[in-house]
Parts: sequence; structure tokens; C-alpha cells
Amino acid sequence: MRSLLITGGAGFIGANFVHYWRARYPDDRLVVLDALTYAGNRANLATLEGSPGFHFVRGNICEQSLDESLLREHAVDTVVHFAAESHVDRSIVGPGAFISTNILGTHALLEACRSVWTTDALAAQHRFHHISTDEVYGSLAQDDPAFTESTPYAPNSPYAASKAASDHLVRAYCHTYGLDTTITNCSNNYGPYQFPEKLIPLMIVNVLLGKPLPVYGDGGNVRDWIHVRDHCHAIERVLQAGRKGSTYNVGGDCELDNLSLVRMICEIMDRELDMNAGLCKRFPAARGGKRARSADLIKFVKDRPGHDRRYAINGRLIREELGFVPTTSLEKGLAETITWYLSNEQWWRAVMTGTYRNWIATNYSNR
Ligand code: NAD
Ligand code: TYD
Repeated sequence: MRSLLITGGAGFIGANFVHYWRARYPDDRLVVLDALTYAGNRANLATLEGSPGFHFVRGNICEQSLDESLLREHAVDTVVHFAAESHVDRSIVGPGAFISTNILGTHALLEACRSVWTTDALAAQHRFHHISTDEVYGSLAQDDPAFTESTPYAPNSPYAASKAASDHLVRAYCHTYGLDTTITNCSNNYGPYQFPEKLIPLMIVNVLLGKPLPVYGDGGNVRDWIHVRDHCHAIERVLQAGRKGSTYNVGGDCELDNLSLVRMICEIMDRELDMNAGLCKRFPAARGGKRARSADLIKFVKDRPGHDRRYAINGRLIREELGFVPTTSLEKGLAETITWYLSNEQWWRAVMTGTYRNWIATNYSNR
């Protein structure tokens, strides 16, 4: 039986991981530490509240004394570190929070683990797993080989730079202090509970609301897409059998340019709207249902500054060493995700109120 501290467990991937883990290891203790920024939502974990072995703590990872006390109080042997500022566009407008949480916060957490795990006999067996991104490797040209674990770091956005710095800290704490660490660098995730500022949920919501679908630049930027459930499975494999000090790249075997992806979302949603008159009634501004095509809403907007052209993952190491392969196709995963957003209108309407709308209005006149 493990005792896990899951930072950022009220955010998108963190919440999916908490549910994933709970379903597979119901006897493990789960302590979620989350500051509940705009991206964190306690409602994502509502079904677990009050259940034995589940603890939610609202707090900031930058507070080392809090981190330490949670490690001790719950005899934590496994940290799964998701907490971060995660949106590239926000990092361009205001990098400060990224430096604070992603770099200083990771450092505080590592220091807490070093202090508790290397002094308390109880944590002779421990693991610090750091969730990171493929964006640390920079941008690929169309014909470049995919990122491997030995691709040199070349982060281009403040977000990517802050994650690169945190990766280096994790690695250094293993090398210098002997902390048992692992890192996964994963590609673009999608699925339930993703805040509708990231490409896929933003497009789904905007189709329903009949709003423009902003495609940056020429829409030719390529990303590798992975369903969040597959990412959780990869993390599980690394926690079970990953080698101390290792880094594993995790991808969805699914490279696609943004414009094709947005068109795919539009087609799936048109099919839903065409088949379901009730949906057209619920979302009168949406284009489907014979009124017009959702793709008519696509609007090419000013490109993101420093926009990376292409990311691609070589997943050979995690496949050969840990037997991980992604199993959710983009078609299936997107359809499932769209169904989730259709069934959870209250959720996305609630998270999109207030500060988020003000932020978009201030920073993006083109939306
Ligand atoms: P998210 O923005 O949805 O969630 C981040 C969570 O961290 C939120 O719940 C937020 O409240 C919490 N948080 C932020 N600052 C905090 C602080 N100082 N202390 C405690 N909690 C804090 O992010 P996500 O998309 O779920 O990403 C999770 C992790 O996965 C991040 O580390 C991110 O870099 C990494 N990642 C994300 C993707 C992706 O496609 N979303 C891909 C690869 C890696
Ligand atoms: P995003 O979801 O922000 O993830 P990341 O920047 O971490 O890859 O964006 C995915 C891609 O979609 C990226 O190339 C930027 C592009 N994009 C748009 O074209 N329009 C949008 O409104 C957003 C949010 C992203």
C-alpha cells in the first residue's frame, strides 16, 4: 500500500490521475495538495470527498514547511508532481507565476522531500515523480526525427523554460542527494476536465457557443496528441517499474497539424448536432443541424509569439522498457471528450466565468 502526495491534483491531468489511481489502487492513501488557481477546481474531485484515505489540502507547493508537514503527517512515500502553471499563452503575457510555481515551487517540494526522506527512516523507499512536457526540447522542422530522451533541451517559451529548469532540478536532486526521482516528458494531452483555454476544449466550447475558432498563424503547427487516460497509464508504469534517475518520453503516436485537428472537431460536432435536435435547441448559436457547418467559424488570427512549429515524440524507451503504448485513437478519444463536454455544460460554464473572461478580454482582442 502506498501513500501518495499528488500536487496539482485538482487540475486537468492531476484530477484524471487521482480518479485513475483510485479506481486501480483503492487502498492507497491519496493526499492532494492544490492551490486552486484559476485552473484548479475542487469539484473535479467531488466524488472522492469524504471517502476513506482521500485528503484534500488547499495550499501552495512553494511553502516548504507545508510540503514537509504533509509528507510527515501522511507518511508519504510517493510524490506525483503535477502542480504547475501550464498555459504557454499565459506565460508569454506574465512569466512571473511560471517562475514561482514551476521552478521555485518544484525546488521547495524537492527540498521538503530531501529533508524528510533522507532523515526519516520511514521513507527508505520513496519516489519523486515529476510530470513534464515535450516542450522542453524546443521546435522541430518537418523532417526532423522525433524527440528522444537525449535530445538537447531548447525551450522556447517562458512556460517551456520554467519546466526545463524544474526538470534539471529534479535530475540534480537525484544525482547529488540520491533522491529516487523519475521524470516523464509528455506531449499534448486532451480529455475530461481540461480548462477551455487549451486548443481542444476551447474549440469544442466555441463551436457550441457559435463563437469564432481562433487558429494561430497558418494552422500548420504540429502537435502530438495523447488522451489523458493513456498519460495516466504511462505514469503508472513509471511508478511501478521506472528506473531511478530516468526520464521517459510519452506520446500518443498521433502527430497532427492544428487546422486538421480543428476541422476534425468540427466534423464530429456537426454529426452530433445533425443527429440531435435537442442539442441544437440547447445551443442555438451553434452552426450544425443543417444550419451551416461549424468549420465556417474557423478564424485565422495573429500567431503566438515564438510559436513552436512541431513537436513529435519517440516513445521507444518507455515502450521497450516498461511496455507502455498508447491505446486511445484520436478519433475515439475526441468523440469521448466531446461527449464529456456535452454532458458537463455546467462544469465548463462555471470555470469560464470571472477572471478567465477578464484575462482573455484584456490580452486577446482578436477573440
Ligand atoms: P492545469 O493548469 O490544468 O493544472 C495545474 C494545477 O496545479 C491546478 O489545479 C492548479 O490549481 C495547481 N497549481 C498551480 N500552481 C500551484 C501551486 N503553486 N501550488 C499548488 N498547486 C498549484 O495543468 P495540467 O494541464 O493538468 O498539467 C499538469 C502538469 O502536466 C503540469 O506540470 C504540466 O506542465 C504537465 N503537462 C501538461 C500537458 C498538457 O497537455 N496539459 C502535457 C505535458 C505535461
Ligand atoms: P495549446 O493547447 O495551448 O497547447 P501547447 O501550446 O502547449 O502546445 O495549443 C496547442 C496548439 O494549438 C498550439 O500550436 C497553439 C494552437 N492554438 C491555436 O491555434 N488557437 C488557440 O486558440 C489555442 C489556445 C492554441
